[in-house]
Amino acid sequence: MNKNIAVIRGDGIGPEIVGQAIRVLDKIAQQYGHSFTYTEVDMGGCAIDKWGEPLPKAQLDKCLASDSVLLGAVGGPKWEGMEGSKRPEKGLLSLRAGMGLYANNRPAKLWPQLADASPLKPSIVAKGIDFIVVRELIGGVYFGEHKTEVVNGEKVATDVMPYSEHEIERIGRIGFETAMKRRKKLCCVDKANVLDTSRLWRAVMHRLQPEYPEVEYSEMFVDNAAMQICKDPSQFDVIVTENMFGDILSDEASMITGSIGMIPSSSLGEGTCGLYEPIHGSAPDIAGQNKANPIGTILAAAMMLKYSFDMDAEAAAIEAAVNRVLDKGLRTGDCMAEGCTLVTCTGMGDAVLAEL
Ligand code: IPM
Ligand code: MG
Repeated sequence: MNKNIAVIRGDGIGPEIVGQAIRVLDKIAQQYGHSFTYTEVDMGGCAIDKWGEPLPKAQLDKCLASDSVLLGAVGGPKWEGMEGSKRPEKGLLSLRAGMGLYANNRPAKLWPQLADASPLKPSIVAKGIDFIVVRELIGGVYFGEHKTEVVNGEKVATDVMPYSEHEIERIGRIGFETAMKRRKKLCCVDKANVLDTSRLWRAVMHRLQPEYPEVEYSEMFVDNAAMQICKDPSQFDVIVTENMFGDILSDEASMITGSIGMIPSSSLGEGTCGLYEPIHGSAPDIAGQNKANPIGTILAAAMMLKYSFDMDAEAAAIEAAVNRVLDKGLRTGDCMAEGCTLVTCTGMGDAVLAEL
């Protein structure tokens, strides 16, 4: 197969980790007789520096014309003071919205080799951690009106959190369908004791529920969910939730698996063209030092092969290679443990290639 992949290296450690993922993709292409071509896209801080805005239209158009998009990470202290529309994060939000990627899938899965790196007690970790946060990605407070005005001599800031039924229904379906492919448990996480949007979520979910009679459906308030994720994460299979709750809970979920550096994510809309990225940020503190963990990005590339290109065997080969590298005790600094061997970002790339 020929596939055109838009590549956003981004800022901070982005270029380093994406470089390793591309080496892996090239090796897969060679082994399985595919041809991957890469179109470089500027987004984030580097685009602000070059073009004056975080996602110029021509760059978005390259993504829309691609078969899928691979992203490293964007942002950094250099661009932090800038106004809302000129921040790297705005590029990411515009990309998600511009591509219509409403369904963000963030797996929280413990690699048994990294069990010691989890901050949770061994007795909790031993029960297993394997769940997915299905996060709504282009609605809610991220995309409602934001404003700051002066009222009675003081500033008042407002962020609006709108959700319409069709937005809830399409992500709700993804939640049920994801559960059907797994252990058939779905938990809708919300704040229905306070928010109207949450009450509408529940009403729409109740409407969908009869279509998925095999799914064991439950509901939980987000504050309790935050607590349950560290108390007993083994209770979760699929969590479906709105944009900001998903942002927060997915960071918590990744941390308990040992390292945020290991976790990939997919963002999809109606078509097969998706956005694949590690869930961590641009880690400016270690940028340019060849220290970053490229595994999250390598696994994101594997997700792209599986979900956008239907290349299940190729994706499984990458996951198996990563598993063997971890078995051999190779670790980057973020998940380094006693008795393991510390490797660089490129060293980790080399090791995965060697296992392929
Ligand atoms: C994420 C990030 C983004 C988000 C930021 C960078 C805008 O935290 O992908 O989780 O909040 O969605
Ligand atoms: Mg986040």
